[in-house]
Amino acid sequence: MRKIRIFDTTLRDGEQCPGASMNKEEKLTVARQLARLNVDIIEAGFPVASQDDYEGVRLIAKEVRGPVIAGLARARKEDIERAGEAVSVAERSRIHTFIATSEIHMQRKLRMSRDGVLEAAVAAVRLARQLTDDVEFSAEDASRSDIDFLCRVIEAVINAGASTVNIPDTVGYALPGEFGELILQIFNRVPDIDKSVISVHCHNDLGLAVANSLSAVLAGAGQVECTVNGIGERAGNASLEEVVMAIKTRGQFFNADTGINTQEIYKTSRLVSSITGMVVQPNKAIVGANAFAHESGIHQDGLLKDKRTYEIMTPESVGIQMHKLVLGKHSGRHAFKNKLEELGYSLSDEEINKAFDRFKHVADQKKEVFEEDIEAIVSEEVYRIPEKYVLKYIYVESGSDKTPVATVELEIDGKCVREVSSGDGPVDATYRTIKLITSASSHLRSYEVKAITGGTDALGEVTVRVDEGGRTVVGQGADTDIIVASAKAYLNALNKLAYRNRR
Ligand code: KIV
Ligand code: ZN
Repeated sequence: MRKIRIFDTTLRDGEQCPGASMNKEEKLTVARQLARLNVDIIEAGFPVASQDDYEGVRLIAKEVRGPVIAGLARARKEDIERAGEAVSVAERSRIHTFIATSEIHMQRKLRMSRDGVLEAAVAAVRLARQLTDDVEFSAEDASRSDIDFLCRVIEAVINAGASTVNIPDTVGYALPGEFGELILQIFNRVPDIDKSVISVHCHNDLGLAVANSLSAVLAGAGQVECTVNGIGERAGNASLEEVVMAIKTRGQFFNADTGINTQEIYKTSRLVSSITGMVVQPNKAIVGANAFAHESGIHQDGLLKDKRTYEIMTPESVGIQMHKLVLGKHSGRHAFKNKLEELGYSLSDEEINKAFDRFKHVADQKKEVFEEDIEAIVSEEVYRIPEKYVLKYIYVESGSDKTPVATVELEIDGKCVREVSSGDGPVDATYRTIKLITSASSHLRSYEVKAITGGTDALGEVTVRVDEGGRTVVGQGADTDIIVASAKAYLNALNKLAYRNRR
């Protein structure tokens, strides 16, 4: 069986999704989980884009072992040197350099001739090869490029030392049969094509990113670039979990496999969703809340007789434990620690203690504590940046014939401040009070609330998006009381802004 390499670009192309930006600590958390998922390559960012991007890539390169760590660079000297510097501390590093090869991009965007682009591509690969042995070249907008010119560029970059050549469908324009044919043509026409791995990178503008990627795999592509939950520019990128599970479930058909530890898929999906605030739609394949829910009586009857009647893969194979009851209010620290280990977390004693205190509080309020609740507790209590604003107290009065009033006390840099405000509803009153205390100049762009598990005592998870100075941050909070969860989510966003502005 052929092994298909999985190149994860959640931290680079995925992060280009509006509102999905992550700070470097959050990126490191995601990168560590991607290593547990066993992806082959992590594209950690675009180092020349900003100091934060550079530091994020460097931190991941230094801390994460296992996957190759890649940094993106345009076909320009300063980009390549910056990317090379950022990934130089990795166990295994890659520089991924790109330039567009379609007429529309060359003429209108780059204002370069074909020969100029070809020369820049070769020079970029040569320079990158001086910094690392592992160089990937991408022909941006390849699917809309003239095939003769595209093949010339591919041949030249392979000769210059590119060990991976990526064929992006940058604007999601290709159709599956056509895209597979393009890959076949490249294999047939480019001399020395076997000296490099052919990769594909598909966008989802027509909803075909996964179909196009799989068609390319059938045609011989050896690497697929994708993102967790399919997040990315515009309509997103090919979804990692869909590509991987299609290849696994239909392994005989593809005569191929990936090295992905599929039991880590669901946890990775939830982590990325909780850090980016990009909620996964319920009917999303593989990781959506309904992906393994069977409603029809006929289906349920079939499943009871033999699961294979209506199930092509098991929820367990992607790491979903169907609302398994795990712990209760009498569970001790030892059982809690074991459960964390079973869920794949490796936390320090201090982190376990923090999470355990919160677990006890939740267990007192809820009869049953599910694995999803524990994941929410860990992402709330452990994966947090340092907090400038700490919620100390909240009291809200509201009713059908009463103007809602919220009293909130925050600890700010060690000092407690308490204020009271009214609002159009209890959440509005709470947010007005927090705004008054923090003098926040940011703008609340969106507010969403959902229950993590079923039942009226479920933990409510609130996600907010807050804009400041043209950038958006996502804040999240979970609690059995949705007003408290709302306050926590807003404060989480304000803490991220304060952390970002600390320099
Ligand atoms: O979509 C695209 O073409 C890209 C390249 C930089 C690979 O993201
Ligand atoms: Zn892309």
